[in-house]
Amino acid sequence: MEKETKVPHCLILPYPAQGHVNPMIQFSKRLIEKGVKVTLITVTSLWKSLSTKNLTSIEVESISDGYDEGGLAAAKSLEDYKETFWRVGTQTLIELLQKLSTSENPPNCIIFDAFLPWVLDVGKSFGLLGVSFFTQSCSVNSIYFHAHEKLIELPLTQSEYLLPGLTKLAPGDLPSFLYKYGSYPGYFDIVLNQFSNIGKADWILANTIYELEPEVVDWLVKIWPLRTIGPSLPSMLLDKRLKDDKDYGVSLSDPNTEFCIKWLNDKPKGSVVYASFGSMAGLSEEQTQELAYGLKDSDTYFLWVVREIDQSRLPKGFVETSSKKGLIVTWCPQLEVLTHEAVGCFVTHCGWNSTLEAVSIGVPLIAMPLWTDQVTNAKLIADVWKMGVRAVADEKEIVRSETIKNCIKELIETEKGCEIRKSALKWKNLAKGSFDEGGRSDKNIDEFVEALSQ
Ligand code: UDX
Repeated sequence: MEKETKVPHCLILPYPAQGHVNPMIQFSKRLIEKGVKVTLITVTSLWKSLSTKNLTSIEVESISDGYDEGGLAAAKSLEDYKETFWRVGTQTLIELLQKLSTSENPPNCIIFDAFLPWVLDVGKSFGLLGVSFFTQSCSVNSIYFHAHEKLIELPLTQSEYLLPGLTKLAPGDLPSFLYKYGSYPGYFDIVLNQFSNIGKADWILANTIYELEPEVVDWLVKIWPLRTIGPSLPSMLLDKRLKDDKDYGVSLSDPNTEFCIKWLNDKPKGSVVYASFGSMAGLSEEQTQELAYGLKDSDTYFLWVVREIDQSRLPKGFVETSSKKGLIVTWCPQLEVLTHEAVGCFVTHCGWNSTLEAVSIGVPLIAMPLWTDQVTNAKLIADVWKMGVRAVADEKEIVRSETIKNCIKELIETEKGCEIRKSALKWKNLAKGSFDEGGRSDKNIDEFVEALSQ
């Protein structure tokens, strides 16, 4: 009897946060499409809180972060969470790998979120190919790498920074952990630790599009086995190969899809401002109020995501008084919203996923970064890719309502806005070109799959 050939089997382990799970699930789907068997490994706490109704194509296993009830929110501090996750995660991952190694089709590769470098050591001890996955831009990761190697002096001392492959950056364009050195030490430690054992990784896959940051990618490729594989998005947005692949498959909260889409359906083309600040950071009360009045005073339609925990910061009675023009929801199906023709621009915190989504769908941006990598992404959006305007904060670090109103008007009414929309379309086409069969990211994924099969 002929022996059955086994397909390569990849384990994929994201850091347990929405902005990390989303791209890694999409990448899993690309691999499955190319004939690879994928098992997603998640932590028990996250799996319990995710709505997973559309995740049917991927097998799932779980390990423990030590906080099966509540995850990070149940830990005393991020430092405690990290330490416990490392310890308990290592133990439970070893148990899982022991179980899987005796299965019919044992894994031969582990793709892990770069935020979890210890996974590489565990994977290697089982003889697996170790693949680090960058969920943030190569520009930002290169800056963090320079900080890790002490090639950037901290606290910052220079008035500008010229790093290989990057545009000239002012201190305030560097990720917030650098220009506000000492803020969020736990997170800073996580982003620097990505490079603690990177020399041992067999591959590094970056969720970015080469054309967005070619010089820095070229530089990184010289020092690491790095390939760009982005945008890691549901394929339905970019081509028609998987017609039923409409969303990420997992969501932290119920996106109330029908309600949002129905509201958008009767709005004129390009007339709605969509505003959302991702899953992690909330706006201060003062900033929430300024944004509320900025949206209201712009006299445009707006769809604004204000998470449940941030709702109390809205001006009193705002939801009712603005209801003719605005819809406020606690979470929305962001991809479906961005692809809706009624949406004309996106007021964003510039999280890397939101940025890549807007780039790939061709939606112009109003950049209102809050912290971490978002400030650097905002610099790229406004000054390098020229697909958005920067909503500049005052000395109290608040973006005033007047500024927000002016940015909306600038995008909608001016010649500059028109150029920005053209630029957004250019990036959309480049993203699609990279994603499509034979495009740069697609070829890189093929090369990776080929290597897995050997
Ligand atoms: C975090 C960091 O804040 C960000 O800077 C980093 O680049 C990634 O990790 P997050 O704040 O969640 O991410 O922002 P972002 O990266 O934009 O990811 C948010 C994801 O949630 C996106 O994929 C977006 O489509 C989705 N989303 C957001 C929804 O589906 N519905 C919403 O209402 C809001």
